[in-house]
Amino acid sequence: MITRLGLPGQVLIGGGALAELPGLIGGLGIRRPLLVSDPVMRDMGLVDRVGALMGDSGAPCVVFADTVPEPTSDVVERGAEMMREEEFDGLVALGGGSPIDTAKAMAILAANGGTMRDYKVPNEIPQIGLPIIAIPTTAGTGSEVTRFTVITDTETDEKMLVAGLACCPTAAIVDFELTLTMPLRLTADTGIDSLTHAIEAYVSKRANPYTDGLARNAMGLIAKNIRTACADPANRAAREAMMLGATTAGMAFSNASVALVHGMSRPIGAFFHVPHGLSNAMLLPEITAFSAPAALDRYADCARTMGVAEEGEGSQAAVARLLDALRALNDDLKVPSPKAYGIAKDRYDELLLTMASQAIASGSPANNPRVPSSEEIIELYRRVYG
Ligand SMILES: [Fe+2]
Repeated sequence: MITRLGLPGQVLIGGGALAELPGLIGGLGIRRPLLVSDPVMRDMGLVDRVGALMGDSGAPCVVFADTVPEPTSDVVERGAEMMREEEFDGLVALGGGSPIDTAKAMAILAANGGTMRDYKVPNEIPQIGLPIIAIPTTAGTGSEVTRFTVITDTETDEKMLVAGLACCPTAAIVDFELTLTMPLRLTADTGIDSLTHAIEAYVSKRANPYTDGLARNAMGLIAKNIRTACADPANRAAREAMMLGATTAGMAFSNASVALVHGMSRPIGAFFHVPHGLSNAMLLPEITAFSAPAALDRYADCARTMGVAEEGEGSQAAVARLLDALRALNDDLKVPSPKAYGIAKDRYDELLLTMASQAIASGSPANNPRVPSSEEIIELYRRVYG
């Protein structure tokens, strides 16, 4: 079997790595980059800080700071329009997964034309666009190292998965110091997102020996540090471990795919505007319970790696501990059910069939160790509602 691994050409990891940006821009031969970010980063002063570093490389600082959480196709089109109007030769994406995903999508549209829907999986992306330097400020989506972007279609509210090497940043700067001020809810949600990436990459039908090591490494780091990072935001060791875990999990799922949790999570996010990590968290325990019988040993490995089961414990017992641990994590991090989040039951029920068909169309459920039917997905949506 041949495994095609796709990763950024350079990843600079460590506290203070942001200072390497001017050298990285120069080294890549970028002379006129566009900085893609969002209003939160601008208000925090990070856009100015990164803009000054871009200036140190001799490049002007031109900013597109209009990206939105759970990025939409119309914002991507506005950004691509700006790229067509001015001659840029690279993008610097600064922020959580949303600005990074937006920058990827802008580069794809600017290079290939058309609309975002044209590149939804399983469609291919013909041309790789401008080089992207991704600078994540959450730990996180892993978008800085993945060959995916997720864009919500403004017209239909569908969260579209777009995949291919054209989505993979050229370089990433992974500096945990940028996460030290992340608020509690964001730390929890993005942390569970990255734990989900690691678990799904490990149990995915497309897992391979290269991604297994990355996924195990990430699971251990995240499971053992997520509570500390939430309770003690300035804890550098925990923040560093979470950042490393998130990026490593990104490398794993980018090359092994995510599975049923992500497939079912995207429609919840799109229709009810639930942040991505939170909708994953709502689903993770129940989907794990549904899937585990089909890959008991793999899920048992997850439990042992996360430190919630003993090495010598049998797989059945280890998986039971994993389920307990995932439920306890949701309780501790105050993850609400869809009902408790305020999602109306009648609207949820009305959309079940559409959500299930969008989940299946994304391709992610087909990577799950237990591939569900549409009826089973609907039943799972009902079970997690609360
Ligand atoms: Fe995710």
